[in-house]
Amino acid sequence: MTKLYQTSVNLAENVREELVFLLNRRVGLFTDLYVQTKLAHWNVRGPHFIAYHELFDSIADHTLEAQDSMAERAATLGGQAGITIQAAAEQSGLSPWPLDTRQDTAVIRLLGERLHHAADQIRADIDTAANLGDADTADLFTEVSRQLDKDLWLVEAHYAE
Ligand SMILES: [Fe+2]
Repeated sequence: MTKLYQTSVNLAENVREELVFLLNRRVGLFTDLYVQTKLAHWNVRGPHFIAYHELFDSIADHTLEAQDSMAERAATLGGQAGITIQAAAEQSGLSPWPLDTRQDTAVIRLLGERLHHAADQIRADIDTAANLGDADTADLFTEVSRQLDKDLWLVEAHYAE
């Protein structure tokens, strides 16, 4: 773990180190999620094209906003912000996006699976940050979690019953 920068933020150094590590892992997860969401946005085909194309773009925007907020929280806590795209791909836990899948109803389920994975991680992070005594990072994860849950609803509402 890299040494933290000096900061007057009033949290113990070991707590800030753990939070920076966690935040950067999620920055990586959201980097992978962003690219996969854009691959869905670009490649989807079928009768639901325009609805899915637009929905996926709005989810990609939310993914970038969350990535930026988490990276800047890592910097605020005195850490190096972000990880390389190579590390992100290794650590994200997402399966690679299957580029040969284009059919709209298949694509939306693949994206739903990835959002589900990310939502599970972030929900657990809320408690981790709270247990470390950082209500602000817990609040940030809560905000990210709420948006992910909403996007997951918008995706899953398209599944055929
Ligand atoms: Fe676009």
